[in-house]
Amino acid sequence: MKASTDIENRKRRHLRVVLEEDVENEAYSGLQDVQLVHRALPEIDLEEVSTEISLFSRRLSAPIIISAMTGGIMEAERINEALAEMAEAYGLGIGVGSQRIALEDPRRERAFRIVREKAPSSLVIGNLGCPQLSTGWGPREARRCLEMIDADALAIHMNPLQEAVQVGGEARYRGLLKKIREIVEEIDKPVIMKETGCGVSLEDAVEIERAGAEGIDVSGVGGTSWAAVEQHIAREEGKTQLEALGRSLRYWGIPTAISIVEVVRSTRLKVIASGGIRTGLDAAKAIALGADVVGLARPFLEKVIKGREPLKEYVEQLLMELKTVMFLTGSRSTDELRRKPVIILGKTAEWLRLRGFKPEDYSKRS
Ligand SMILES: Cc1cc2nc3c(=O)[nH]c(=O)nc-3n(C[C@H](O)[C@H](O)[C@H](O)COP(=O)(O)O)c2cc1C
Repeated sequence: MKASTDIENRKRRHLRVVLEEDVENEAYSGLQDVQLVHRALPEIDLEEVSTEISLFSRRLSAPIIISAMTGGIMEAERINEALAEMAEAYGLGIGVGSQRIALEDPRRERAFRIVREKAPSSLVIGNLGCPQLSTGWGPREARRCLEMIDADALAIHMNPLQEAVQVGGEARYRGLLKKIREIVEEIDKPVIMKETGCGVSLEDAVEIERAGAEGIDVSGVGGTSWAAVEQHIAREEGKTQLEALGRSLRYWGIPTAISIVEVVRSTRLKVIASGGIRTGLDAAKAIALGADVVGLARPFLEKVIKGREPLKEYVEQLLMELKTVMFLTGSRSTDELRRKPVIILGKTAEWLRLRGFKPEDYSKRS
């Protein structure tokens, strides 16, 4: 099983680089330009605030998803077990990392199956990559991913930048919309199209909606940069051109705040906001911009490798911050938060205006 061993080595390297190197584009999410309006008289009690939502036929206690990360390697089973337990305990959603490795080598399924075992009532999202679809995989493999973990939805990840910078990457994206349509028609669970750190434009969002997907995970610029991760790996491998490519394109893409607006305003799809969500305040801003739910990857990984207690503390901190900001804006629910005024400043406002959106539509809401 050479192929699965190669993937395993790459995954292990990704984990190490993500945890040890500087791969974070936090200052570029655009969320710094987004401000919520403080209410000195919110006319609600903090206790009244409810963060509960429904998504893809599951109830979540909080609008937070542990984003797709690992799977298929030895360490992943332990990591996924702890993350899934946390998802179950706090009513969060959880996505698994690419299931490709387990489709190619069923011995790797265990690291994925553990997620549903430990999170029986959570929203669990499967994961498959676009490059595999363009080289022949389709509805059959999609169904196997769903069955493997009894998933509630399937995320299909889009990572064209990462594949272009990756040593041996598979930057094959031709004909994918047709493939997505086929999968949507032949599986009985919702499909979510998910970026991995470069954001989704309104042009792609419209095509994705036409293809029948039910959700988009924007995963915009502002968090983990996969160009930076692959840049480090290219350097270790002595591939100087790919290393330089990764360095040049580290900030390529659409900042998370902008991508949320582009997708929310151009489709009726469910929107997962990820890419640089780090605090409960970030989560509140993303939801106020129109996202249904937020996703975080690297912060959960950093905590979980230190143990369950740091992970638990972080989840509680996120929830406390989100609830407090909802209270301070007078929002009893995330639906109410989505109707509150939002001030969009600076470069983010300028970018949105140039794309035909009106930041005033947000600031004048009441
Ligand atoms: C170690 C690691 C592995 C990842 N693997 C996957 C994957 O297999 N499939 C996927 O869709 N996204 C994957 N991602 C991307 C994340 O789901 C997320 O979109 C991205 O990291 C941005 O979120 P963040 O800024 O909170 O890290 C991975 C992220 C990390 C940190």
